[in-house]
Amino acid sequence: MSISATSPVPTLPAPAGASPGTYREQGGGKSDETSTGATTGTTIGMSAAQRRSAELEELIRQDPGRFRVLTGDRPTGRLHLGHYFGTLHNRVRLQDLGVETFLIIADYQVLTDRDVADRLDERVEDLVLDYLAVGIDPARTTIFAHSAVSALNQLLLPFLSLVSVSELSRNPTVKDEIAHSRQSAVSGLMFTYPAHQAADILFCKADLVPVGQDQLPHLELTRTIARRFNDRYGTGGTPVFPEPDALLSAAPLLLGTDGTKMSKSRGNAIPLAAGADETALLVRSAKTDAHRHIAYDPEARPEVSSLVLLAALCLGRDPHEVAADIGDKGAAALKATVTEAVNEYLAPIRERRARYAQDLGYVRQVLRDGNEIANEVAETTLGEVRAAMKTLY
Ligand code: TRP
Repeated sequence: MSISATSPVPTLPAPAGASPGTYREQGGGKSDETSTGATTGTTIGMSAAQRRSAELEELIRQDPGRFRVLTGDRPTGRLHLGHYFGTLHNRVRLQDLGVETFLIIADYQVLTDRDVADRLDERVEDLVLDYLAVGIDPARTTIFAHSAVSALNQLLLPFLSLVSVSELSRNPTVKDEIAHSRQSAVSGLMFTYPAHQAADILFCKADLVPVGQDQLPHLELTRTIARRFNDRYGTGGTPVFPEPDALLSAAPLLLGTDGTKMSKSRGNAIPLAAGADETALLVRSAKTDAHRHIAYDPEARPEVSSLVLLAALCLGRDPHEVAADIGDKGAAALKATVTEAVNEYLAPIRERRARYAQDLGYVRQVLRDGNEIANEVAETTLGEVRAAMKTLY
């Protein structure tokens, strides 16, 4: 049995509804963990990356067929509202614009900061369910796990030969992750995963990578590896690899129930798959402040404003208007509004997720089909790499 991907999925209200101050740059990639601003030391300044992204958006509008997107996630648990408004809806948007998309489930990458990943197969299944539920269409988007694609992983070896140990150790995102790691020793995988990520991106010659700011150092390394590979092994001026661009998009910063950034690992998130009652409980537990009057002021009142923003995103309304409607009715009224808005907005997504969860055979088949496509593409690329490196025997 297959479930059609055509049942209605709510579209994201235009971000124009909120004041610019409420948005920060964040595309796909690692929206889950602490964003530290640790990337400010990279050579791509944010403003350059932003400018480039705006240009790219224009080019996508003109000719979506000329691009290939690769993006993805570590399978570490159920996706939440922060992921939805931060990255998932943007992926669906690109897919629906007609951009060919590869969606990677980075299962090896889960092992960067822990010794054992519990039930990776279930985490991967959860991720595929979330993807399907939000409207990722496997007929148009290739969903695959990088551990299932041998030729992709083999690219890691020549790629590692193209980067220095000091380049790897300078990566600000890796440094930050090491600082927050739950391991006593840093594994070789942690140190080298950005080169692995370059293989994730370059195996399919993606030219666009929708990511968050924390992933920019990895994108820069990917570009460096592509350039060095082409310089060292390219023949007749034909590059083997494109130098992919990061695609940053404006995304709302949603706080979790404890008032810090919404994140799986902090237990402060509202999962997409949560039931209506679970959602009500989570919203009720959310931190607010001592003022009865509800206003939208992200600087001065971050917790209350994040709740207002969440309701506004779900309702497709301006957050100032949402706040004004609640006015002096206080935090309880705000939370009731948020709960209702979230539950209504997510109802079709949850309904689809539940239906797919009834048919895990189909879900696994989606992944197997995606793995097969990714393997074909990776074999072709590895063939080109072998030819360029003169390792065809
Ligand atoms: N590093 C990303 C994260 O932590 C996941 C990821 C792995 C990824 N490979 C990728 C993202 C390639 C974009 C492109 O979420």
